[in-house]
Amino acid sequence: MSLSLGIIGAGSIGTVHAATAARLGVAAPLVWDVDESKGRALAATVKGLRTAPSLDALLAERSVNAVVVATPNDCHAEIAVRALEAGKHVLLEKPMATTVEECDRILNAMRPDGPRLQMGFVYRHAPAPLAVKGEIDAGRIGRIYHAKCSMYRRRGIPGLGGWFTTRARSGGGPLIDLGVHAIDQALWLCGFPKALRASGACYATFGPRMGGYVFEEMWAGPPKLDGRFDVEDHATALVRFDGGLTIELNVTWAANIPDRSLPDGIALFGEKGGCRFTLLGDEVRVATEANGTLADLQVPFDSSRALERAFEAQLRAFRKVVEEGAEPAATAEQGRAVQEILAAIDRSSARAREVPIDARSAE
Ligand SMILES: NC(=O)c1ccc[n+]([C@@H]2O[C@H](COP(=O)([O-])OP(=O)(O)OC[C@H]3O[C@@H](n4cnc5c(N)ncnc54)[C@H](O)[C@@H]3O)[C@@H](O)[C@H]2O)c1
Repeated sequence: MSLSLGIIGAGSIGTVHAATAARLGVAAPLVWDVDESKGRALAATVKGLRTAPSLDALLAERSVNAVVVATPNDCHAEIAVRALEAGKHVLLEKPMATTVEECDRILNAMRPDGPRLQMGFVYRHAPAPLAVKGEIDAGRIGRIYHAKCSMYRRRGIPGLGGWFTTRARSGGGPLIDLGVHAIDQALWLCGFPKALRASGACYATFGPRMGGYVFEEMWAGPPKLDGRFDVEDHATALVRFDGGLTIELNVTWAANIPDRSLPDGIALFGEKGGCRFTLLGDEVRVATEANGTLADLQVPFDSSRALERAFEAQLRAFRKVVEEGAEPAATAEQGRAVQEILAAIDRSSARAREVPIDARSAE
């Protein structure tokens, strides 16, 4: 049966998914948002999309065989479980959930012969990361022993005072919002080795100022100054993996960093070659050696419409899962592995010492 998508959550990214489906000619007949005005507003802009009267109604609709979950993080587990139990395949926005326990709820709802779940780790489908993956698969990087992942925003707190900055709804700040992308990228490129220990530090400097927070633009804004900010706005960590890999992570929603003075992106340190790239970048260079001399190789790739093409490729991959039984491009197990690392970084920060990734292990 052809992919027919129900969209759950009609906010910023639900709108992107609806537009992506429309561009690819993927049927998306129904949308549900608890804020009915949001659902109606999205339906009004996309041909063939109507609002469902309730989540139950959307999940009961026989013509819909899959859903994209694009709601705040605290609803991911509940909605994903209900969708799986209703027999719908799930494309689940990142992060998988707010806690590892919620990830386990989702995994427990999955059956070998049941509907499948693909994680919305969209940057795996972006041109620059795919170009890097090609270099790794061709053997030009060799064993990667270190990755440095940085995502810096000078003033980028999303939805200050709303669900993004309320721990009970988001599960955390930039660690879970941006770190989830960075850690997934590094793990995907390095072959998902088992994470062993993490040392992290989290800071909350700008968000707690609320009305005194100076900014120019805000994703999911405007700010709600009577809302909460009980998450971090900057996190740094070192994660150790089986086999020797280490990942250094620096993610910030807000910091006093002069614009563009600290490079954003992922640097991979390999025995044969190394490279640095940004998730939506237009350049990938591999630093290596050739004929006894140092060499920089420019990797050619098409970087046009990088984000749109990434969302399109993600949806094409999901269509193959639904229509052909293909393996999900990013699995629920991988979503959990990323979440476990983020949770350990948070725990390490609270305890001010290195901790095992598995919270059940003796420290
Ligand atoms: N892949 C990416 O690059 C990317 C980018 C941004 C956001 N996201 C993720 O997408 C999700 C949504 O983020 P956003 O920026 O679109 O947020 P948003 O606040 O703009 O939109 C969320 C929408 O969900 C609705 N909603 C809340 N609870 C609901 C429920 N129980 N059922 C149905 N609808 C509900 C809200 O009314 C709102 O319209 C988050 O998990 C976020 O981490 C991913």
